[in-house]
Amino acid sequence: MIARGAPIVILTGAGISAESGLQTFRGEGGLWEGHRVEEVATPEAFARNPELVQRFYNMRRAKLGDPAVQPNPAHKALALLEAEWPGSVTLVTQNIDNLHERAGHRAVIHMHGSLDRIRCLACYSENTWLVDVEPESACPSCTTSGRLRPAIVWFGEMPHALDAIAEALSEAALFVAIGTSGNVYPAAGFVAAARADGARTLELNLEPSAVRTAFHEARHGPAGDVVPAWVEELLAR
Ligand code: APR
Repeated sequence: MIARGAPIVILTGAGISAESGLQTFRGEGGLWEGHRVEEVATPEAFARNPELVQRFYNMRRAKLGDPAVQPNPAHKALALLEAEWPGSVTLVTQNIDNLHERAGHRAVIHMHGSLDRIRCLACYSENTWLVDVEPESACPSCTTSGRLRPAIVWFGEMPHALDAIAEALSEAALFVAIGTSGNVYPAAGFVAAARADGARTLELNLEPSAVRTAFHEARHGPAGDVVPAWVEELLAR
């Protein structure tokens, strides 16, 4: 599909972590305790009901510590690709879990933030945070209590690293989207941007995404099967 060593950009979404036991956002009814994700993942929701929003993220953060939640063959295959491909591999994830890192992936762009980090609204510092956030939890940097928020990019907020991502997309020979439904922009628009700048584009997803027709090619199936098969194919060439 591309020359050996040509630059690759990969976008991952919740589907890559589904076989690790983490729920996707829009599958299985897409509800959390009766709330749509869009209702808990906004600055307005946090202002209105901080306890509800913290509980949503506390539960997700706690799940990362569940011994049953481990990187799956798809995360591991991408880490192998990063290590073995003789050119650049830029991994952009919409996921807030840490499974790419735990699979050994070294450079991961978390465009929607990270569950294992916390931001302080008093001093704006960010710190690693692995336990539940309680209403009076204190900031590790400035010790102010009750001003912590998840270091997550909510609907209506600016995703991280958009300049670096745009540059990588413009240079990519191949753009691959894995396990994402193509409903949330700007990530859902990356395929069109990469393609406009000359990249080949490939979708690897359980089913056709909302932006399937924007891709040159698609392979549909569980990430744990289709991603290792694709990586093996690419590295064997
Ligand atoms: N293998 C591959 N794909 C899968 C699997 C699997 N085992 N299981 C589910 N999928 C696919 C689904 O078919 C769906 O198309 O993964 C996709 C997951 O879509 P979403 O739940 O919408 O997740 P995502 O695209 O990552 O959501 C984007 O929306 O809620 C916000 O900020 C949040 O980052 C998130 C963003």
